[in-house]
Parts: sequence; structure tokens; C-alpha cells
Amino acid sequence: MNFSKHEESIKFVLDNAPFKPDAALILGSGLGGFSGSVEIVKTIRTMDIPGYPPSTVEGHGGKIHFARLKEKRLLLFDGRIHFYEGYPLEKCLFPVMFTHKLGAKQLLITNAAGGVSGDLTPGDLMLFNSFSTLNLKKEISEALGSFLLKEVNAIRNFPDEELHGIIRQAAEEENIPIKEGSYFFSKGPTYETPAEVRMAAKLGFDAVGMSTVHEIITALKLGIRVASISCITNYAAGISAQKLSHSEVTETANRIKDEFERLIKKIFELLPR
Ligand code: HPA
Repeated sequence: MNFSKHEESIKFVLDNAPFKPDAALILGSGLGGFSGSVEIVKTIRTMDIPGYPPSTVEGHGGKIHFARLKEKRLLLFDGRIHFYEGYPLEKCLFPVMFTHKLGAKQLLITNAAGGVSGDLTPGDLMLFNSFSTLNLKKEISEALGSFLLKEVNAIRNFPDEELHGIIRQAAEEENIPIKEGSYFFSKGPTYETPAEVRMAAKLGFDAVGMSTVHEIITALKLGIRVASISCITNYAAGISAQKLSHSEVTETANRIKDEFERLIKKIFELLPR
């Protein structure tokens, strides 16, 4: 990623940062409420950051919070920019860029996803054990400058078993079931067709969604430890007879947000500083 192009935005965030965060969190659809459960130290509106693209999706807040949770200092991105909103992929990577520039070495990414595998039911949480990059390689190359050996090597750092150990422990301590599976990246902007979902299922993927993958790869390239958890908000198109809608996605996210927030809090408590 060519940081020199984004000097102004980086300077704005660094100048406004009250501390160096221990860890960062990118909040997925409908999960913005998490910021209400931690002590907010300072909030930056993304609209005030030079060059930051406006979020156009319902349930995405457009705020960056600096927060405290016990002795941990956190950076929360409430308002993700999606590739399907029409921005160049590089613009969608601002949260990861700020995570890096602020010096946080750990990143947790949450998202909403459709369940493809028969093991997943709406309301389940799924820890990523792998993901697809197939239909995003060109854009990732453009955004990061290359998608060559360095990135391929960095991908070997995923999944991060130590981080996953902490997440499993947090789930166990909070008595919250968490499943594990692979995420198929879909470019959007529309949900998948039933045939595309059958393809993802045949290829062995467990869930499908429209975010996160480029964030993971960028984090890995920048040496940030990263893990991602999906809230399975719906059966992917064609898996159930019910027609898929964005309101189903936000309704399920709402239904399990307390549990999800409890899990995330526990993960941050257990993370090393
Ligand atoms: N497909 C893609 N993205 C999603 C879905 C889905 O079914 N549900 C939530 N985000």
C-alpha cells in the first residue's frame, strides 16, 4: 500500500490519537453497538478525516473510537467501507492502514455472512479458518502494489493459532458456542445467486460474504496478527426457501449482538498487550 498517497489522512489520525492502541477491531454490519460497552476516550468522525470515503451502508456508523477496556487500549472502527460501495479497494483499507500507523499489532475483524454449509444456522458465530482470494487478486495487487511472494508468505501466518487459542478460550469462558469455517469472498454489490452459493458449497466453503478478505491480507502483509469472526446472519441464497433481504441480516445481527459483544470483550481482555 502506497502510504505516501494518504499522508494527510494518516497525519490527521495520528495527530488526534490519544494513545497507541494495543489492538484494533473492525466492526461488521449491525455490530456498531459494541462501542457502547467500552469506555470511549475519544471519537473521530471519519467524515472529518481528509480522503476518508463516506460509508453508504445502513448499520455502518462512520466513527473511529479510541476506547479502554480494563487496562487495554482499543481502536474501534465503527463503519467499514465496502468494495461493493464502488470505492477502489485501497480506500477500503483505511482502517487497516490506521491500525498499522497507530502501532496496533493485533486486529480482530467481524462481519456478517451467509451460511453455506449445512453446519451453520443463522445466529451462529464462525471463526475463519481460511478464506478465498480468487476473485480479488487483481484488486489486491493494485491496492497493495503487488500480490507476490511476500504476500503469499504472509498468508501462511493465517490462521494465527495463538490468537485462535485465545478466541476459543474466550468463547469457552463466556459459554458462547463458536464454530469454525472458511469464508468465500463475493464482490457484491448484490447477494449471490443460488447457483453461486451452490458453487461455493461444492468448492467446500462454509460461508459467503462481501468484506474482510482484503483487510486480512493487508494486515498480514503489514505484520499485524489478525483473526476474523463472522456472524452468520442468514442462510446464503438458495440454501433455504426464504428469500434473502438486508433486513434479515440486520435482524439476526441485532438478535445476537449482546452475545457477540460479550465474546469480543472477553477476547480483548485475554489478548496480550
Ligand atoms: N452473502 C453475502 N454477504 C452477506 C450475506 C450473504 O448471504 N449475509 C450477510 N452478508
